[in-house]
Amino acid sequence: MARIDETGNIQTRRGFVIRACKLGSLLALHGSLAPLLVSCKSDDNPNAPALTVVQGTLTGGTVTVAVPANSHLAAAGNAALVQFTGGALLVAHTSQGSFVALTATCTHEGCTITGFREQTYVCPCHGSRFRTNGQVAQGPASTALRTFVTQFANEELTIIL
Ligand code: FES
Repeated sequence: MARIDETGNIQTRRGFVIRACKLGSLLALHGSLAPLLVSCKSDDNPNAPALTVVQGTLTGGTVTVAVPANSHLAAAGNAALVQFTGGALLVAHTSQGSFVALTATCTHEGCTITGFREQTYVCPCHGSRFRTNGQVAQGPASTALRTFVTQFANEELTIIL
């Protein structure tokens, strides 16, 4: 909603938040207001709901993930961050019984991708978005995420690294 301030300028809530954050940034240079800045968000903020974290097991060159019927990844359309000793993968259940596994390392500057919004993975560092097939949906990243072969049987997903 917009309104006119006492100087005759049109103000919006978003404009106010941005100006307040800029002021906070300047003040932070002279003090310790960093905790305050964490709450400064504009509509352009790349934050997205966090992916559900699922544990995987690395054995040799494969990662296995249990996918029982009542688990998050059992439902087509869901995605998760699969963590295992020494790494993490993005896994999407794209259609009944079909999974796509991708590296969770952003191709822009190497951050771990942790967000998921509107069927795209969102990097928390600079907002790159990737489709569940790994293709770039929005930069600054320009290179697709690496994909890995998957096999699904008996409620267990196997990802071949
Ligand atoms: S490291 Fe992911 S967008 Fe920059």
